[in-house]
Formats: sequence, C-alpha cells, structure tokens
Amino acid sequence: MKTKLFSPYTVKGVTIKNRIVMSPMCMYSSDESGKVKNWHLTHYTTRAVGQVGLIMVEATAVSSEGRISPRDLGIWSDEHIDGLKNIVSLSKEHGAKVAIQLAHAGRKAELEEEILAPSAIAFDESYKTPKEMTKEDIQNKIQNFKEGARRAKAAGFDIIEIHGAHGYLINEFLSPISNKREDEYGGSAQNRYRFLKEVIEAVKEEWNGPLFVRVSAFDYLDEGLKADDYVPFAKWMKEQGVDLIDVSSGAVAPAPITAYPGYQVQFADQIKNEANIDTGAVGLITNGFQAEEILRNNRADLVFLARELLRDPYWPRTVAKELREEIQAPVQYEYGW
Ligand SMILES: Cc1cc2nc3c(=O)[nH]c(=O)nc-3n(C[C@H](O)[C@H](O)[C@H](O)COP(=O)(O)O)c2cc1C
Repeated sequence: MKTKLFSPYTVKGVTIKNRIVMSPMCMYSSDESGKVKNWHLTHYTTRAVGQVGLIMVEATAVSSEGRISPRDLGIWSDEHIDGLKNIVSLSKEHGAKVAIQLAHAGRKAELEEEILAPSAIAFDESYKTPKEMTKEDIQNKIQNFKEGARRAKAAGFDIIEIHGAHGYLINEFLSPISNKREDEYGGSAQNRYRFLKEVIEAVKEEWNGPLFVRVSAFDYLDEGLKADDYVPFAKWMKEQGVDLIDVSSGAVAPAPITAYPGYQVQFADQIKNEANIDTGAVGLITNGFQAEEILRNNRADLVFLARELLRDPYWPRTVAKELREEIQAPVQYEYGW
C-alpha cells in the first residue's frame, strides 16, 4: 500500500508531490538590504534536490520595521522580487513547489528603528517597548501585506503563508495578552481577529492562489488563548477562503513549553476536525512512521519539518527507505540513491 506521506496533495490546482513541507526557518543571512544571498539559494535548493514536496521560504518581512533582525529576508520593495524569483526557479527545477511566509515581527522586532504593536507593551524587559499602532498604522501594515502578496506573485511562488504565529504582529492582535486595545481591533474575539481578517482580505485582492496561515494555537498561559479559541478563528479563516492552517504554538509571551515528539499535533488535529479545514502539523516530527500516523489518522494533511531538515536535507529519501517506498532520485544521483 502506498503511504500517505508520499501521496500528492492538491490545493487550488497546485499539486505538491508528497506531504513533506520544509517549515519556514529564518536564516538571518541577508543584510540590511533584505535581499536573497547565495546562502538562501543553496539552502533551499538542497532541500528541493532532497525531494521535499513544498519548500516554504522563511519569514520574509513585508516592511523594514517588521523584520525580526537586520539580517531578515525582505519583500517590502520591488527590488526584492528578482532574488526571490531565483529561489523559486531553482527549487522548481527539482520538482518542488515553493511557498513564502509573509511576516511582520511587531513588538518582537530587534531593530534600531521604532517598532509597532497593537499595544505599547514590551515582550519582556530585554525587548524595546513598541509604539501602539494608530488606525493609520494599522491600514499601512495591511497595505504592506497586500504589496507583499503582489510581489510574491510576481516572483512566481505557488503558495503564500501569512505568519500569524509566534508572537509576531498578527499574533499580537489575536491574543488578549498582547492586545489591550479599546477600539474595534481589541476586546472581543471578533475584534482581535479584525486585523488578520483585513490582512487576508487585502492579500486576496492580489492573490487567488493557495493561502495558508500559521497560528500559535496555545499561549501556554492561563490568561492566554487555547486551541478551543482557535477553532472559531479557523472557521472564520475558512469562510474567507484560507485553504490550510499551519498549526504551531507559543511565543506570544514568555512561558515555559514542554516539547516532546509531536507536541503540537493535538492542536492541528482539533482545528482540522472541529473547524473542518485542512491543517499542517509541526513540531518534533522526526521519523516516517510518526509522520504517517499523523496523516493516516486524519490529524493533519501535511507535515512540516524544520530542524530535522537541517540535520538531513535528504529526509524524504531517508524515510522512503524506512517506509519501503520508492521515490525518484534526481537523475544525476541515480547511481548513489
Ligand atoms: C532556525 C529556525 C528558524 C525558524 N524560523 C521560523 C520562521 O521564519 N517562521 C516560522 O513560522 N517558524 C520558524 N521557526 C519554527 C519552525 O518552523 C518550526 O515550527 C519549529 O522549529 C518546530 O519544528 P521542528 O521541531 O521540526 O524544528 C524556526 C525554527 C528554527 C529552528
């Protein structure tokens, strides 16, 4: 029997050859320009040669004050398009589909310049206190995501993922821990969702391809959000035409997290089955049987791997052997496959 891990997945006409996704990972390998460097070309292409189905380019900043660090990739200018286009075309040569994660770091930006957030509360004492966003700032940032989507389309990406997780700007609006606003962007769940809602609407004006959103489905704090709170958010995203929720957790505020194999799969499972939307599972997924279990038991539709793909860029080949699947080698490597 064919494994589910090596079965294709189609979303809005884009077919990914297997269910293995390279999870977005900041490489902090650009410079103040935010442009793609040789490192990025090598790094992403290597995983495409290794037969990863979907390569997700790291958190890429939609505006310069939305970078996590001064070495993040950027998509805040048309000058970024050509470099990103190179990542896309090199990865596609090896049969991968390519996605980009559009991001704004909010109060977690570690930069010289003024940083923005829904409320003027620092992440912790080691971070700068952000400026509380005005309505105009909010509209500007929505516009930045829209422009990012236009540029992602021009670069040839197959899929866009909006970064709504890990305590960055969108997550800061969603969570009552970081959002203390008293206007229509704070307070009730509907109000805290409004910024993401408007970002999705704006992105969709430029982009009619597959759209993923990454969320942190658990804040790990009593006063924070839990997967139960993300079920209605996921239903609203589905109504807006989001295709898949990539389910991570944590990092909106300092909190201890106990990580163990598959520790976030339960959240992907709950959101998939209660909101009836496709999900991606991520977090300490490291072997083929574990990935197959998640997919076969309908706990998620895709598996995202980060650190395991740093250790083994040929992980698809490694687990194909484990699961007794035959996968095609790049023709140049057939002698050694
Ligand atoms: C070096 C590194 C950089 C990361 N950068 C991002 C990022 O840009 N965007 C994101 O959503 N998650 C990022 N993450 C989180 C991963 O995508 C993933 O969710 C997390 O590492 C858990 O998966 P793993 O156990 O397979 O590593 C990063 C993780 C690592 C290790």
